[in-house]
Amino acid sequence: MNIEQQLAAVRRYTCKKMKNDKTGHGFDHIQRVVATAQYLAAHESQTTDRLIVISAAYLHDITDDKLVADSQKSEAELRLFLESIEFSTTQIAAVVAITHNLSFSKSLEKNPPRLSLAGQIVQDADRLDAIGAIGIARAIYYGGTHQETIYDPQIKPRKSLSKTEYRNLNNETIINHFYEKLLKLKDLMNTVSGKQLAEQRQQFMLTFLTEFKAEWQGKS
Ligand code: ADP
Ligand code: NI
Repeated sequence: MNIEQQLAAVRRYTCKKMKNDKTGHGFDHIQRVVATAQYLAAHESQTTDRLIVISAAYLHDITDDKLVADSQKSEAELRLFLESIEFSTTQIAAVVAITHNLSFSKSLEKNPPRLSLAGQIVQDADRLDAIGAIGIARAIYYGGTHQETIYDPQIKPRKSLSKTEYRNLNNETIINHFYEKLLKLKDLMNTVSGKQLAEQRQQFMLTFLTEFKAEWQGKS
C-alpha cells in the first residue's frame, strides 16, 4: 500500500466509527482537525511525517474514554487495523502515543504526558476546533446535550479542575465553560501558527461573551 491508500483507509475507518456521533465529536469535527493539522504542519519550520500527522488527526478521538465504553479494547482494535494497512511497528507506536495522550482531560492529570511534534500539531488543531465561532457552537451543543444551564451569574467559574471535576457537570453552565477551559486554550498552544489562529478566535469569543452579558442585563 502507498501512503495515499493508507490515508484513504484511515479515513474510511474513522468515518465508519464516528459518523453517528452526537456529542460534538462527529466526522465533521475530525475533518476540520485534519485540515487544520495539515495547515499547522505546513507552517512549522521542522518537518513532520505526513502519514503520522494526518492519521493521528483522523484517529485522535477514536479511543477516548468519553466516547467509547472500553478504550483499551478500541486501542487494541486500532493497532490491529493499522497493522492490517501496513503501518510499521514504529509508525503504530507513534500514532497510538498521540491518540492516547492528546485530550484536554489528559492534560489535567498530575504528570501530563509529553507529545511528539506531530502530536503537538494535532493537539493544537483539536483545541482550535474548541474555540472561535465553531467552539461557541460546540460548547452550546455539548451543554444542551448534557442539560447544562446556559448561564447563571450566581455560579462562579471553578478555578482549577482535576479530570473528575472537569467531567462533573452538576452546577456547570455553558458560559462558565468558557472561563474554565476555552479562554485558556490560546496560551496552551504548542505551535506558532496555532497561537496566531487562536488569537483571532479568542477575540471572537471575548466579543461574544461581552455581548452576551450586556444582553443578559438588558443593556444591549
Ligand atoms: P477533549 O476531547 O479535548 O477532552 P472535550 O471532550 O472535553 O475535549 O470537549 C469536546 C467539546 O465539548 C469541546 O468543544 C468542549 O469545549 C465542549 N465541552 C466540554 N465540556 C463542556 C462543558 N462542560 N460545557 C460546554 N461545553 C463543553
Ligand atoms: Ni477532538
